[in-house]
Amino acid sequence: MSGLVLEDIVSGYQGRPVLHGVSLSVPAHGSLTVVGPNGSGKSTLMKTVVGLVRPQEGRVLLEGADVTRLDAPARARMGLGHVPQEANVFRALSVEENLKVAFEFIPARSGAGYASRLEAVLELFPEIRPKLKVAAGHLSGGQRQMVAMAAALMPEPSVLALDEPSAGLSPKNAELLFVAIRRIVEAGVTLLMIEQNTRLGLTVAARGLVLVSGQVRAEGPAPELLADGLMQSLYLGGH
Ligand SMILES: Nc1ncnc2c1ncn2[C@@H]1O[C@H](COP(=O)(O)OP(=O)(O)OP(=O)(O)O)[C@@H](O)[C@H]1O
Ligand SMILES: [Mg+2]
Repeated sequence: MSGLVLEDIVSGYQGRPVLHGVSLSVPAHGSLTVVGPNGSGKSTLMKTVVGLVRPQEGRVLLEGADVTRLDAPARARMGLGHVPQEANVFRALSVEENLKVAFEFIPARSGAGYASRLEAVLELFPEIRPKLKVAAGHLSGGQRQMVAMAAALMPEPSVLALDEPSAGLSPKNAELLFVAIRRIVEAGVTLLMIEQNTRLGLTVAARGLVLVSGQVRAEGPAPELLADGLMQSLYLGGH
């Protein structure tokens, strides 16, 4: 299957599993948001997807290829874009320099040139076009997240992994950022997102997955999960 697939992943640190047999799939051009309480293993899942943590068991498939044994740069070259939660832009560089560096680090697999990729990402994020010459460190948190996403999209990845994009943003800036994330989904990029803000995260994605204690508690269409009483009970501490 194309897109991103995790099969029976057991993963953790120093031989101690945090994820106990997690399977999920995001079909090509699909979108999945992973939510769950603090400490449930969301970041560990993300690190396992992008190649920063090697699973003890199970497989990670990217566009049908087994990438389980590949490191993070190799997965990036195969079309997996990643926006980490922190330190995701070069603050001293301008917005345009950030986009250039990202493109030079991983050239577009389609062979598209820098100018055409720059135009494509600025169409997705018109908010940053007037800021191209501004140092990324001088932007608002929401604008900086847009630059980080635009940089990740420069090499034209087929799958984009976002780690807690709304972290640290005001509610208003988070809403604006999610308008931009919706555009990424509509552009056909396969999206895996981890999000603390359950409502926003599940509003953007087609499907949602609830991770509890390193296991999949529920998975289904995002609107159904949002409506489900499970969410309320989890986040009001009723589990
Ligand atoms: N580098 C590490 N070494 C050892 N244990 C770790 C490491 N990182 C995370 N853990 C442990 O793994 C478990 C899951 O952590 P993880 O960061 O994946 O959860 P999370 O769902 O992302 O939580 P949060 O919502 O607070 O970000 C926790 O018990 C945590 O203490
Ligand atoms: Mg986390």
